[in-house]
Amino acid sequence: MLSLKEIVKNMTLREKLAQMTQLTGSFFEDVDSAVTGPLSEMNISKQDLYSIGSVLGTSGAKQVIEIQKNYMKNNRHGIPLIFMADVIHGYRTIFPIPLAMGCTWDPELVEQAASVAAKEACVAGIHVTFSPMVDLVRDPRWGRVMETTGEDPYLNSLFARAFVRGYQKGGLNQFGTVASCVKHFAGYGGAEGGRDYNTVELSPSTLRDQYLPAYKAAVEEGCEMVMTSFNTLDGVPSTCNKWLLRDLLRKEWGFKGVVISDWDAVRELIPHGVAENEEEAALKAILAGVDIEMMSLTYLTCVEKLIAEGKISEQLIDEAVERILELKQKLGLFNNPYRFADPEKEEKLLLCEEHRRLAYEVAVASLVLLKNDDEILPLDVKGKKIGLIGPYAEANHILGGWSCEGRNEEAITLRQGLEALVPPDTLLVATGCGIEDGTDEQLIEALKVAQQCDVIIMALGEHPDMSGEAGSRAFLTLPGRQQELLEAVYALGKKVVVVLFNGRPLDLRDVVKHSHAILEAWFPGTEGGSAIASVLLGLRSPSGRLTMSFPYCTGQIPVYYNQLNTGRPKPSEDCTDRFYSMYLDIPNAPLFPFGYGLTYTTFEYSNIEIDNNILTPDNAINVSVTVKNTGRRPGVETVQLYIRDLVGSRSRPIMELKGFKKVKLEPGESCKVTFTITEDMLRFTTLDGTFDSEPGKFIAMVGKNSKDYLSIEFSLVK
Ligand code: NOJ
Repeated sequence: MLSLKEIVKNMTLREKLAQMTQLTGSFFEDVDSAVTGPLSEMNISKQDLYSIGSVLGTSGAKQVIEIQKNYMKNNRHGIPLIFMADVIHGYRTIFPIPLAMGCTWDPELVEQAASVAAKEACVAGIHVTFSPMVDLVRDPRWGRVMETTGEDPYLNSLFARAFVRGYQKGGLNQFGTVASCVKHFAGYGGAEGGRDYNTVELSPSTLRDQYLPAYKAAVEEGCEMVMTSFNTLDGVPSTCNKWLLRDLLRKEWGFKGVVISDWDAVRELIPHGVAENEEEAALKAILAGVDIEMMSLTYLTCVEKLIAEGKISEQLIDEAVERILELKQKLGLFNNPYRFADPEKEEKLLLCEEHRRLAYEVAVASLVLLKNDDEILPLDVKGKKIGLIGPYAEANHILGGWSCEGRNEEAITLRQGLEALVPPDTLLVATGCGIEDGTDEQLIEALKVAQQCDVIIMALGEHPDMSGEAGSRAFLTLPGRQQELLEAVYALGKKVVVVLFNGRPLDLRDVVKHSHAILEAWFPGTEGGSAIASVLLGLRSPSGRLTMSFPYCTGQIPVYYNQLNTGRPKPSEDCTDRFYSMYLDIPNAPLFPFGYGLTYTTFEYSNIEIDNNILTPDNAINVSVTVKNTGRRPGVETVQLYIRDLVGSRSRPIMELKGFKKVKLEPGESCKVTFTITEDMLRFTTLDGTFDSEPGKFIAMVGKNSKDYLSIEFSLVK
């Protein structure tokens, strides 16, 4: 075989530009109609289509093999297509949405989920997944918060690594792997006002210390691709941001893989107002270092002219094409263009028992118990009638956005999950209302059902289309008539347990007031109903912890735990004086803080100790606490370590998560949990721009969540 360089040498410029272009599979299903139809105005020939480098959104072994076979017959150089797709939280077996997976605080479990997703995608012919999405988020109005693991740079980085490891396990020549494309680089989660595709304004140090670490972690873990984000940073769209893509990503971080634009994002440089026309858009994107243009055709239609005019050197094009071919080579596509696509294996592997079991485990671990008055949960169903009411009582659209080949009809609904576990005739079911609508008759019928029951499970939430891309919302209360339904049921004086299906933190003030227990189920995936039922009935215990603060109300957004102190911090939550950084009409504290989540038992923290209160770069120190299970059931506690740098060259966050440990304790059992603190954990972007630690005083906080902890002081001496 020729070397990649030789292949590039043999390619025409136009073939190279096609290699740098990505189109959906529909163009390849019927090439003749594509070139006479949608592509005819752009002078895209059949030969161009047979030189295109990659396809997005097509999967299924049979179809991929067919497209690839036909393509290979027609490509002049024997260069295979790469198939890429959004395998975000599972391929056919769907895991909980990434925000829910974040709430497991269990990167190893998430790595296993990613590995199962990769296996299924791999046999279905996918070579690259556009995942993980590691955008840090602070605004639940933004629908895409469902795709990330949350608001914390440390946790997001751990999960970024876990996803990449899971997808690329053992190297891309291995069966069951796909290449990982981290996205959206960079800062997309900062969209102003939570409105999708909106402007991002971030100070350089916030960008560096909060938003960038998770992308960097994915790059360090070896992800093969990076996708640019739709937004601007300091007025420059990422897709033409030379500083971001060349200086930071390639030079500083040493990224050697392929950079792809987001969908149509090269052409969108025109409405962004940084390019006058497609020619200028292509010029800027190529100079910035975008190797593949997704779903617009400016490279193919404009770059030949730009090169002829000497505005771009062909060397840049060759480098980009070499990177793309190198990825194809790593994937083994030159040896076998079908790679591991295999209809028979697909039949066996997709949604197999083992994968479903893991989906169940991940769903159980991602559930977050927000409220549990009088230990109403787990439910005691013996001799009782249980009402299951609400639009999610038997809805199967619980997979969540971006669920790839997941099928609603394969999901276990809450009703099915409960019916599998409770004695016959225990459960009475009513919808009560739709997600966004409802009639008086439905409501009355639900109340009649509720009257006959001892406990009511209210299954409420958002429609999956209300989050995800272009799923921004300004009101974060329950949509439609669901709150009205909840209040009417609650007014009957029965015990009410709310189970929530949603893709973002909601404004739950009124739900808290009208319920005895709340279980946040997110969009829990294929095994959602079984997982929720197991937890409600006490077969399993809830252990999930929030990775994104739940706001008190939308007016409080953005709300996040690692904020700066300000010059006038509010002295206490009940302070009513003026001239502090506070609202006159709502508290500063979120309704549910970062790290929060109840279990079926209680834990007490005591004896915070430090083995040495002087930390130096050469000598780590250890902080420990005693954690005791003071309740009546076994439980898993997620012990969290936060650190505050009291005085720095820049104002420093009031706390930052630096570690966590899970401990499983039987009733009455206690254990000592120890964290090691090292100097590198204290580094940040200092005033002179270096990433370093600064000597001085620090506080270590160890506790249940970002609001409930014990603390102890130490100093860093350098
Ligand atoms: C647009 C989305 O922003 C991105 O996340 C996704 O990977 C691409 N479309 C491809 O589907």
